[in-house]
Amino acid sequence: MPQLNLKSSHKAIRDYYATLQQYDRHAVTHEGAVSNPFAFLLDSCAKQVNATLISQYAMRTTNGNRIVIDGAILDEFGLPFAYWEAKDIDDNLPKAVAEKQAAGYPLDNTCFQTPQRIILYQNGQIALDVDITEPAELIAALQYLFAYVPPALDNWQTAVADFREHVPDLANRLKELIDQRHETDPAFKEAFADFYETCRTAINPELSQDAVEEMLIQHILTERIFRTVFERSDFTRRNIIAREIENVSDALMRHAVSRDAFLAPLDRFYIAIEQAATLCRDFTQKQHFLNTFYEKFFQGFSEDVADTHGIVYTPQPIVDFMVKSVEHVLKTEFNRSLSDTGVHIIDPFVGTGNFIVRLMQDIRGTALEKKYRNELHCNEVMLLPYYIASLNIEQEYFQRTGTYLPFEGIALADTFELLEQEQGELFTRENTERVKRQKAADMFVVIGNPPYNMGQINENDNNKNRKYKAMDGRIAETYTKDSKATLRNKLYDPYVKAIRWASDRIGEAGVVAFVTNNGFLERMAFDGMRKHLTDDFDVIYTLDLGGNVRENPKLSGTTHNVFGIQVGVSINLFIKRSSLKTDPKPAEIFYARVDEFWRKEEKYHYLNSKQHYQNIDWQQLTPDSRYTWLTEGLHAEFDTFIPMGSKETKNTKDGETIFSLYSLGVATNRDVLAYAFDLELLQKRVDTFIEIYNTTVDRKRRYNPTTSVESFIDTTDSRIKWTRQVKASLKKLEQSVYEAANFRTSLYRPFCQKYLYFDHFWNEERCQQHRIFPTPETETENRVICVPSKGGRADFWCYLT
Ligand SMILES: C[S@@+](CC[C@H](N)C(=O)[O-])C[C@H]1O[C@@H](n2cnc3c(N)ncnc32)[C@H](O)[C@@H]1O
Repeated sequence: MPQLNLKSSHKAIRDYYATLQQYDRHAVTHEGAVSNPFAFLLDSCAKQVNATLISQYAMRTTNGNRIVIDGAILDEFGLPFAYWEAKDIDDNLPKAVAEKQAAGYPLDNTCFQTPQRIILYQNGQIALDVDITEPAELIAALQYLFAYVPPALDNWQTAVADFREHVPDLANRLKELIDQRHETDPAFKEAFADFYETCRTAINPELSQDAVEEMLIQHILTERIFRTVFERSDFTRRNIIAREIENVSDALMRHAVSRDAFLAPLDRFYIAIEQAATLCRDFTQKQHFLNTFYEKFFQGFSEDVADTHGIVYTPQPIVDFMVKSVEHVLKTEFNRSLSDTGVHIIDPFVGTGNFIVRLMQDIRGTALEKKYRNELHCNEVMLLPYYIASLNIEQEYFQRTGTYLPFEGIALADTFELLEQEQGELFTRENTERVKRQKAADMFVVIGNPPYNMGQINENDNNKNRKYKAMDGRIAETYTKDSKATLRNKLYDPYVKAIRWASDRIGEAGVVAFVTNNGFLERMAFDGMRKHLTDDFDVIYTLDLGGNVRENPKLSGTTHNVFGIQVGVSINLFIKRSSLKTDPKPAEIFYARVDEFWRKEEKYHYLNSKQHYQNIDWQQLTPDSRYTWLTEGLHAEFDTFIPMGSKETKNTKDGETIFSLYSLGVATNRDVLAYAFDLELLQKRVDTFIEIYNTTVDRKRRYNPTTSVESFIDTTDSRIKWTRQVKASLKKLEQSVYEAANFRTSLYRPFCQKYLYFDHFWNEERCQQHRIFPTPETETENRVICVPSKGGRADFWCYLT
């Protein structure tokens, strides 16, 4: 670790002593209070070196006992390199240290502290014993604590940098090898084709060959880590999916150098990982390390996959709070418990398995085997988290029972796809069996952290959220149908699908506990969803954790948001009693929110201290007639105003609205190509992309009209954008025609006139603009009043064209 920049004149140090003086004045001496200033100081030091202080850190000692240490400092990979244990002012520190030592506390780099004194242990020996009432000694102790590098971490930092540099190279070489084998090795070609077909049936019929090749590459690059870090040498033999992929991988490597020789450039990294993992004292730490490693690996290697599937693992305080809350809901509402027979539980988006592992910790020992064998279920659609989850869950079972038992409740499957009627074999026979068992189970608890994103920004990324016939149909016939909003595409965000899916999945009674985007609480487009939630459930609790950076630019995602993301987050409990069917009435809704400006650590601390939903001070919400839940600051008389326009009276002469026609602007989804200040330049660009498109249609027609469109298009070619609509036209082999009359003047932004290629084929949405401005002449004849749409971020404005 680098040296801390810390002087007695620095604010962190001054604040530390000032707060202690205040406590002194009020005669406060107990550890709970006097440890706070030191925690803040440690936290600010940790931040300097890109590390994180985790307060009240639960871990196991070498002899397996669970302890909660006052703080652990983790590096950016979640590896603990320092610990802190605080004591009261009046405590005898050496005596307290001896007690902790006997209880098996770690002594690798541990600071035992009272406001007067620090005893620092390093490598099991006292390295420092100082009076810290003077800043110089305090600073020296902190420098010692942070400068310590455990031997196993020596190579780690360099190896990580190495890995980041080497992995893309090696992945490219593997890709070249795959391409070459496709050409030259019929056995590999066949093995791959079988596997590709299996993946398309199991995951997504539109899955591209590239995505499956990437899966194979990920497997080859990471399989050793799973074997060694988790100490499960038989992993690829025992895991039903890994076994399948191994066959393809063997076919790939059959004529090549051995797999070990191929991966030799990564040896240094693998060894460093294996050594670093030895720092983890218990399996939870290993899990955390691998989770973080996994996140970083994805960030560096496969950003678009991470984007589509919403890969962020869930912070422990959130998981703890949700699991405990579910247990209390079960007890209070149903007089049941997580351990009870018949309480089937599912995490439909299991990621690396945090929720299931945590649930298992709360299940009674006597009930665990039955639960584990029959009543715990989960799905994951991505290969690496699926591996990690399987290992994590099996390890937790091993830890609890001393027996290794494969976890058959996990399926490699797309949860939303499971709604479709027709399903072929899902990867392997065993995986298909698991899905069947899961579908037959009567779910009582759905818990988890669903993915959320709203499509990718760049249409060329080729990983837009996929469509699901049945799932999207359920949204359309419920949330969308009952929405009065014009813009309703946000209802197809995966987190909304997840809530719809879970509401249907729990049957007549049960509880859904999801941590999600909090947008559904107040956005316009979600009025229909809010209506259905109140119809589908009896009681709803929503704890708003805030953190919407787009709405409040004073916030920072990394500092204030519990996931470090830009969109607001809430923990939601949706409860359905069996009486709902016979005695339907709108749900009671309870809401609470944390302080908008709390840092994420403060939010974690709040969750830890509250433990579960019954300790929260809830406010009951009374929705208005338009299903607005958060009505504070709204004016009831608004409903009496004549609307400017409405969906019902649009295009009709009658109806009580000021205007009969209104429209959003044009959405080309390719502004850089479809707008320009220079007409000639725009004409050239349009001519080029139409030419590229038509040539691709010809190629597809000649080659094989039924092959997926993805394999014909070059998404890296910036001269054309392959949007959903254009891809659909390519699929139907439709030609595009260049229309000189479609070059029109337009108002790109207020007071910014540009030429636009105004064309049905190449504008993703023209809304009503082609009716407002059907010909070039109407551009000057027709007048339009422009206003920002409802819920816009800026204050109200308007102008007339
Ligand atoms: C936000 S993460 C969940 C993290 C998890 N709770 C944890 O702490 O590790 C969402 C996970 O759901 C998976 N996922 C996304 N869409 C899915 C789908 N349709 N079916 C199954 N899993 C899905 C993603 O690959 C990702 O691992």
